[in-house]
Amino acid sequence: MVDTLTYHFNGKQTDFYLDKRFEQLAELTDMSNCFIITDENVARMHGHRWAGHASIVIKAGEAHKTIDTVHHIIETLLKSGADRQSRLIGIGGGVVTDITGFVAATYMRGISFAFIPTTLLGMVDAAIGGKNGVDVGLYKNIMGTIRQPDLLLYDYSFLQTLPTAEWQNGFAEVIKHACIRNQDMFATLETHTPEDFQQDEVLLHQLVKENVQIKCGIVEQDVEEKGDRRLLNFGHTFGHAIENLYGLPHGHAVSIGMNMAGAISEEMNNFTSVSLARLRDLITLYGLPLTIAYDVEKVFAILKADKKKESESIHYILLKEIGEAEVKRMSLMELEPFIKQTQ
Ligand SMILES: NC(=O)c1ccc[n+]([C@@H]2O[C@H](COP(=O)([O-])OP(=O)(O)OC[C@H]3O[C@@H](n4cnc5c(N)ncnc54)[C@H](O)[C@@H]3O)[C@@H](O)[C@H]2O)c1
Repeated sequence: MVDTLTYHFNGKQTDFYLDKRFEQLAELTDMSNCFIITDENVARMHGHRWAGHASIVIKAGEAHKTIDTVHHIIETLLKSGADRQSRLIGIGGGVVTDITGFVAATYMRGISFAFIPTTLLGMVDAAIGGKNGVDVGLYKNIMGTIRQPDLLLYDYSFLQTLPTAEWQNGFAEVIKHACIRNQDMFATLETHTPEDFQQDEVLLHQLVKENVQIKCGIVEQDVEEKGDRRLLNFGHTFGHAIENLYGLPHGHAVSIGMNMAGAISEEMNNFTSVSLARLRDLITLYGLPLTIAYDVEKVFAILKADKKKESESIHYILLKEIGEAEVKRMSLMELEPFIKQTQ
């Protein structure tokens, strides 16, 4: 079965090949002038699949999502003779695809690129929507552009080597999508376990496809994040603050942030206590935490510096019900009691 979705982001066409094998890439792109960018883990476990092909292997992990890595890739591309007609192919998790997109957007003022996401988080979130970039010090994604790949190829066999902690990170974003846009997907998640999706490729494919549709549907309407794209930050405002402060895995931080946003929604947005209980149960079912002990003052200081803050208020994403979210402007004063309470 070939399952392809096509979206247009500000007029630019991006094709999603949702059920292909990596080896079919040559049917979709001229491989002779392509440069693969991947990280050392993905190269170690899967690199035999592109043996003999031009590839640039970067160090794995968020610590290497930096301008130094971009510099290294660009130097290597220059030495290898990459030109304006070359295409980059990012094969990896969100770090690889964010960096590949950024290099492609800037090398010779922009060349084409494609993604093959190899983490669940990459498949349902990071590889979609065109945001790319690097971190500068503690500031995540502070330098970057928005530029869309020509195509994404999904090959679920890459996930066979994905560690449990990385599955959990991906499921946090899946739960986020269900909360903001799709109550049926939320119910599907409730009736399964993470292992069901890990073991059943058909079930996984359906889940990934629904997530691609949710994120693309939102981004297609609002590429520049002036409106509904903000909904994708559900759980992330608070989540980012504690993620950096305590070095938490992203999925853990987002889950704690979703629990916090759920509690605020119950208080301020008529989100029912029954729905809040369902959200908490689902987060727990997927092996994710609801809270940690944190320093209120330090978290506050980070929220104040948050790059999405406009004057003294923050765009906070609240739920009306499961599957429906809205953007609310909240002042830091309004947020304070929740941050003190939920701890
Ligand atoms: N651009 C966006 O819209 C967007 C959205 C969400 C997240 N992100 C970014 O994505 C990044 C997080 O993505 P991530 O969670 O995929 O992280 P990641 O790229 O660091 O991958 C996580 C780990 O899994 C390893 N890995 C990747 N594929 C593997 C496989 N198939 N088998 C075994 N190990 C594998 C990687 O080497 C790494 O150690 C962050 O930098 C975040 O800012 C971007």
